[in-house]
Formats: sequence, C-alpha cells, structure tokens
Amino acid sequence: MTDKPAHMIHMPHFLGPVAPITIDHAEGSWVYDTDGGKWLDFVVGIAVVNTGHCHPKVVKAVQEQAAKVAHAQMNIYRHGPMLELAEDIVDLLPEDMDEVMFANSGAEAVENAVKLAKQVTRRPGIIAFHGAFHGRTHLTMALTDSAVHYRGHHEPLVPCVYHARYCYPFRTPASEDPTAYAIEDVRRVLRAEIYGDDVACIIVEPIQGEGGFIVPTAEFMLELRAIADEIGACLIIDEIQAGMGRTGKWFCHEHYDVKPDILTIAKGIASGYPLGAIVAPKALWDKCLPGSMGGTYGGNAVACAAGVATIAAMKEDGMLANATRQGEKLLKFWQEKQAQYPVIGEARGKGLMLAIECVQPGTKEPNAAVAKAFIAECQKHKVILMGACSQGNGVRFLPPLNISDAEMDIAMGVFAEAAKAVFA
Ligand SMILES: Cc1ncc(COP(=O)(O)O)c(C=O)c1O
Repeated sequence: MTDKPAHMIHMPHFLGPVAPITIDHAEGSWVYDTDGGKWLDFVVGIAVVNTGHCHPKVVKAVQEQAAKVAHAQMNIYRHGPMLELAEDIVDLLPEDMDEVMFANSGAEAVENAVKLAKQVTRRPGIIAFHGAFHGRTHLTMALTDSAVHYRGHHEPLVPCVYHARYCYPFRTPASEDPTAYAIEDVRRVLRAEIYGDDVACIIVEPIQGEGGFIVPTAEFMLELRAIADEIGACLIIDEIQAGMGRTGKWFCHEHYDVKPDILTIAKGIASGYPLGAIVAPKALWDKCLPGSMGGTYGGNAVACAAGVATIAAMKEDGMLANATRQGEKLLKFWQEKQAQYPVIGEARGKGLMLAIECVQPGTKEPNAAVAKAFIAECQKHKVILMGACSQGNGVRFLPPLNISDAEMDIAMGVFAEAAKAVFA
C-alpha cells in the first residue's frame, strides 16, 4: 500500500486502526493521544479493559508481580497468582466447574476447549453457529462464520465443523418462533449432516459478539443444553466477549440459567494482559492425557496477577451492578431513538454489551453506510466506537463497567447529536 500514513509505514496496511490516533496513555474511560487529544473510549480494546484503563489495583498488582517473577511456566513450576486466580474463577461458578487451565488468548482457549471435548468424547464433530466468531487460528476460523474475511483464502480449515442457525429474534421470519426456528436447524444438521454420536461438542456464544450482539432466547440456550445431553456431546459456552461482568453478571449464561460443560474466558479476565481460561469439571479434565494440553506462556504470572486484581476490583467497586444500571440507561436511550429514527432496526443487548442494528427505513435490509457514518460522526466528537454485524450494519457500545454517570451523560449527548446528524 502506498497511501498509508507515514506513522504506519512499518505496519501492515490491514492494521489500520478504527480510531485515527496513536495512544500516549489512558485512564479509566479515557484515552489520550500523542497530539494531546482526549477521547471517550466505548470499545475498551473490544471488551477487554472492563475495569477501565489502568485501574490502580491492576497496575499495582502488575508492578509488584513483575518485580517478583514474570514467567513461571506452568509445566515447570506452580506460582501463586495462577493458583489464586483459578480459585477466584471457580468461586464465581457452580460447584462442579472446579478446574481451570490457562492459555494466552481467546482463540487458544477455544482451541483447548475443543481439544478437551474431543478427548472426553473421542469424537470428531463440532456444531457451531451462523454468525459465530471464535478466533483466527485454523480451528477457530473453521468455527467462525460471521464474515468471509475471517476465513476466506485460508482453506483448508479444520474439518468436521457443521454450522446451524443461531437464534436471532430480529431476523426470524414473523411467522416463526425464534427458538423453534433455530433449534429445528440444529436438528436438521443432526438429520442431514452428522450423526449425534459423532459430535464432540456444540460451541455457542451466549450473546453473539462480532455477529452483532445478538441476544438469543433463554429457551434456545436451554434446548442446546438438552440436545448436547441427548447426543452425549459437551456444551461449550464461549464467554470470551460476553463474560467477566460485561452483561451485568459474571457470566452471560447465568441470564439463561443454563450450565456449560466447558466454559471459555479471555478478554476482560485480566484487564488487558494476555490471558485465556478454560473451565470444566475435574471429571472431564481427568480424561485428558498428560502432555496433550499446555503451552509456554499460558497462565503467565503477571497476567494472572492482573486477573486476580481485576476480579477483586470488580467486586470492591460494584462494577456488575454499575454495568446493569448504566446498561439499562443506555438501552432505554437507544430504544427511544429507535422509535424516532427508522434506520435503527433494533437496539439490543444486556448490561454494557449493547448494539444498534441499522437498516434501510421501512425494511430490514442491512444499512452499513449509516452505521459507519454514525461511528465517524462520533469520532468527530472524540468518542471511540466500533462496528458489528456480519454485514457491517451494527454499532457496538462497550464502555468500561465502571463508567460514571457523568461520563455516560457525555456519551449520550454525543450520540444524540450524531444521531440527529446521521439518522434523521
Ligand atoms: C466470542 C469470542 N471468542 C473468541 C474470540 C477470540 O479471542 P482472541 O482474539 O483473544 O483470540 C473472540 C474475540 O473477539 C470472541 O469475541
């Protein structure tokens, strides 16, 4: 590419950032660029810095741990932060979700979750969903179905992956029930494509992230649980984007009262330090062969110390309750705008995992142009937002979970002005 800005000269062109700034430092809900600009961050590294940038408790824990030991490879030694974080995570979950393995990233957590399901069942098949995003490795690209640019030109991908329809109430034909419409497609996969007793796992996001913050029905999640039990497969719930308090509960699946066999966590777990986790009952982990799982950096001591401090800060600062309260306020704001502007097809989400989906007025035709224009308009007012939805027609709202009333008011003021400029 010849038209790259000079400061990107040694970076590949596809890393062109969403916001046109180089960050100097960041604090709480705000980032400060190298030109002295101050921006309100409604992306926080894509639902990563849930505790706000550089939360003092996280900074302190990281500084202290870096001075004690940075890397204590998990197959060579034990170290305190990893043991402590495993205990803290298990405490947030039902009793039998009692063992945790750590990885470096979300994709690596998904890789290991599927490996665990395959070892437990000794089966090859995986059922995933249309619109899903699970990562960028060859396995996780095969599971991903939200946009061709994530997987196109990379084939062959990992085989034995079958996609069924996700529960997408907004795009379910009016004559159909959203749960039944999606579940019938899972049944179709099991009738037409793979025998149930060849399926190792069903992997599902409890709210689809990249797909557009699509909230399924609770019944859909419960039906998946029932199907997994019926065919003897593991239900993997991928909470990499929706977990760690983002939806106002520690884990989004709590909203549906559904229980996973295997849970994947990353992003918000360590406030920006690279860490993923796979949680499952001991009975499942016991079926894994020694040497079959591991990795050099999984459970890095500094990242785990950040994770321990993240959970402590979220509890001490009441961030889940704040996420629920601020989320209700912002969702109501967008529902009112939806009534005002026909280009907003739907405002949806839980807690502070919220999005709007833009359409051509009077239809449900995706309208990416208007979503992009809205994001650009907000950038003029120094609010950072990011798109969503398979066809780029969504806008997601992901502030830190400890955003203040005053900061939310500033953001809503900008959104109201930008909506008037772009949606009217
Ligand atoms: C639901 C979900 N799973 C997996 C991933 C992959 O995580 P990572 O980018 O850390 O590999 C993501 C990232 O956006 C995600 O949203």
